[in-house]
Amino acid sequence: MQYSSSAPIIELKAISKHFKVGKERIELFKDLEFNCNENEFIIFTGPSGCGKTTLLQIIAGLTRVEKGIVRVYDHNIMEFNEESLALFRSSTIGLVFQMGHLIETLTVLENILLPVELAQREEKDYEKRAWELLEEFYMSHRAHSLPRMISGGEYQRVAFIRALILDPHILLVDEPTANQDERTKVAIFQKLAQLKGKKTILVVTHSRDIFPHADRIFIPDNLKLCEKNGIA
Ligand SMILES: Nc1ncnc2c1ncn2[C@@H]1O[C@H](COP(=O)(O)OP(=O)(O)OP(=O)(O)O)[C@@H](O)[C@H]1O
Ligand SMILES: [Mg+2]
Repeated sequence: MQYSSSAPIIELKAISKHFKVGKERIELFKDLEFNCNENEFIIFTGPSGCGKTTLLQIIAGLTRVEKGIVRVYDHNIMEFNEESLALFRSSTIGLVFQMGHLIETLTVLENILLPVELAQREEKDYEKRAWELLEEFYMSHRAHSLPRMISGGEYQRVAFIRALILDPHILLVDEPTANQDERTKVAIFQKLAQLKGKKTILVVTHSRDIFPHADRIFIPDNLKLCEKNGIA
C-alpha cells in the first residue's frame, strides 16, 4: 500500500451520527474529530450505550454517518460502493465485534479461513497460521465444530483469530475479553501487547489491565470523544 507515514491512518472529521428509534432520536455524535497515527494503540472505554461500538463501525464503514468524513489510509471510505468497501476492508482491517459474525454453516476452521478466500488468496498458505492461532487461544480441539456448538467465550476467540488471519494493518476489536476466563484474557492481552507498535490497534474495553498498553484512551462523551489522561 502506497502511503506517507506522517499522515494519520484514520481520520474522522466533523462526524455527526444519530439513530432513530420510533419517534425518539438518539443523538450520538456531533462534529466529532479523531485522528490516529500508524501503529498507535488506542482504547475506547466508557459506559454502556455511549457509542463505542458505533464508533468502530463508523471507522470500518459498517455504519454510515449523516455528516462528516471518514478517511482510512487516505481514502474517503464513504465514497466507496459496498463492493469496493468490502474489498478494502478485507485487505486492510481485522474486525472483532461483540456480537456474532461467524457463518453458522461453516466450522470454526472454515470460518477462520473465510477471509483468505474472500481476499482471493491461497488457503494452503494460511492453514499453518490458522492452526498456530487456534493453539495460542486454546481452540484447536474445536477446529471442526460448528459455531452453535461452542461457548460464547470460544466464539469470541474464533472471531479474534479470524480477524488476525490475514495479518491486517488495522485491528478493530470490540470488548475482546468479555466472557473470557482468566487464562484466555491473559492470552488475548498478551497477543495485543505483542502486536503493539506493529499494527494500528483500536480496542473497546473496560479491562483496566490493558489500559497501561494504550498510547491514548478516549471516552465517547457529550457527543464527542474525550481523551482521558492519567488513567493507567
Ligand atoms: N442500529 C441501531 N438502531 C438504533 N439505535 C442504536 C443502533 N445501534 C446502536 N444504537 C443506540 O446507540 C447507542 C450507542 O450504542 P453502542 O452499541 O455504540 O454503545 P456501546 O458504547 O458500544 O455500549 P456497550 O458498552 O453496551 O456495548 C445506544 O443507546 C444504542 O441503543
Ligand atoms: Mg458496544
